[in-house]
Amino acid sequence: MKKKIGFAVTGSFCTFQRILKEIDRIKDRYDIFPILSHNAANTDTRFFNAEEFKTELKTVTGHEIITTIADAEPIGPRKLFELLVVAPCTGNTVAKLSNGITDTSVTLAAKAHLRNARPLVIGISTNDGLANNAKNIGALLDRKNIYFVPFGQDDYNGKPNSVVADFSKLEETIEAALEGKQVQPVIF
Ligand SMILES: Cc1cc2nc3c(=O)[nH]c(=O)nc-3n(C[C@H](O)[C@H](O)[C@H](O)COP(=O)(O)O)c2cc1C
Repeated sequence: MKKKIGFAVTGSFCTFQRILKEIDRIKDRYDIFPILSHNAANTDTRFFNAEEFKTELKTVTGHEIITTIADAEPIGPRKLFELLVVAPCTGNTVAKLSNGITDTSVTLAAKAHLRNARPLVIGISTNDGLANNAKNIGALLDRKNIYFVPFGQDDYNGKPNSVVADFSKLEETIEAALEGKQVQPVIF
């Protein structure tokens, strides 16, 4: 039987197309249950219409999307997932995860999942990763059961504080995290 993986998406809208591609790539191997932050679920942007994105996500995963705190809460008591991915993970969500704030479906999903000491994989995508959010990324790098999709600077001339995960390394990060290991090198 396929391992059940929660896949949480937050509001880094420019990476949505890429994330759909990665989910499509790993869906034969894992049973993927989508989770969206309120902002990811309800914001129309130049990259995606919110309803279209939800439809694509449901189609590719074959499951309804968890979008509320109430629907995310059972992830803990019912031990729903072997592993939880948050990708793309915004600066907003990484700051909340680092500081124990759980006021979104995604941050509550992470808290509920981590209480079972199961692996959480973060695929960061934020313009302030080497600025205001460097401390939060650093704190999570040192946190038990949290693993990072390898990340680096995507445009060091134009956006010197921006960091983005190499989403092509998502599958190998998941495999390693399921064995309690951080894939290396974590920074490229
Ligand atoms: C078009 C657009 C693109 C965005 N891209 C990013 C991004 O790549 N990284 C990021 O951290 N925030 C980005 N944001 C801002 C987040 O969506 C915003 O901080 C939001 O509060 C995140 O909420 P969430 O983390 O609960 O999804 C973007 C916003 C818009 C409208």
